[in-house]
Amino acid sequence: MIRVAVCGACGRMGGLIVRQLMKQNDMKLVAATDAPSTPSAGRDAGELAGVGELGVKIVGADKLAEVLKKSKPDVLVDFTRADASVQNVKTASEAGVSVVVGTTGFTAEQRAEMEGAIKRGDIRAIISPNMSVGVNVFFNTVRETARMLGRDYVVEIVERHHVHKRDAPSGTARKAAQIIAKEFGWSEDKVKIKSIREDEVVGEHTVIFFTPEERVEIVHRAQSRETFAAGAMKAIRYVVEKGKPGVVQDMQDVLGLRS
Ligand SMILES: NC(=O)c1ccc[n+]([C@@H]2O[C@H](COP(=O)([O-])OP(=O)(O)OC[C@H]3O[C@@H](n4cnc5c(N)ncnc54)[C@H](O)[C@@H]3O)[C@@H](O)[C@H]2O)c1
Repeated sequence: MIRVAVCGACGRMGGLIVRQLMKQNDMKLVAATDAPSTPSAGRDAGELAGVGELGVKIVGADKLAEVLKKSKPDVLVDFTRADASVQNVKTASEAGVSVVVGTTGFTAEQRAEMEGAIKRGDIRAIISPNMSVGVNVFFNTVRETARMLGRDYVVEIVERHHVHKRDAPSGTARKAAQIIAKEFGWSEDKVKIKSIREDEVVGEHTVIFFTPEERVEIVHRAQSRETFAAGAMKAIRYVVEKGKPGVVQDMQDVLGLRS
């Protein structure tokens, strides 16, 4: 049985992760945290997620070290916010607990801080701005298309998300820009990203390659957040069974898509 701790358990993604965990025969929720000031502290994580009492109480993130020591999870799953996530990864690393991080919006310094902690603790880690299978295939399609079209095309990325999203551009758009920039030998900021925040849009990404004569568009639309939660379940299983200690891997490794 894979023992899982969920950070951000009261959030949109955290609640879905708790619900998905209940459907897995080989996983068990053993701990759940949210922001230190969460008004939900002491409430049952299962009840909050709408799946009935699970006997796991929501605890403030300031008590994470203590909680990890008591509940002994194999994996900590984090869908919170960038600054919180860095702290949670450091605490997990000190406790020797593997991590699956879906949070986005990290600065280069925050990313380096997490990588350093993962190396020091020699823990296994998956960090991915988008856990859906489709988006990871989309990344490879974008790479191949850039390679085939070449640098004569102007590139633009348009991403659309719900109004509650904190970071812009999205982690997925930034990753697509990195892929194109690497392929073209450009710096990442040469790829223009347009961010739209509208209604309750789950997540849409369009990469456009164009010249005055033609236009190629590659589009991914997430229809439901379940796709990210389902991907997170794959990441949990992978990190336990095949994760490499001390290095950061991503969904390309989990899904066997790394080219
Ligand atoms: N990788 C993916 O596939 C994927 C998919 C969707 C969203 N995301 C990202 O996941 C993150 C969360 O998204 P969301 O829509 O669930 O946001 P949300 O705001 O609904 O949930 C975040 C939760 O984290 C909690 N939190 C804040 N500080 C915390 C801390 N120190 N410890 C524990 N919990 C803390 C908040 O109180 C909140 O309940 C965002 O960065 C988002 O971009 C990633």
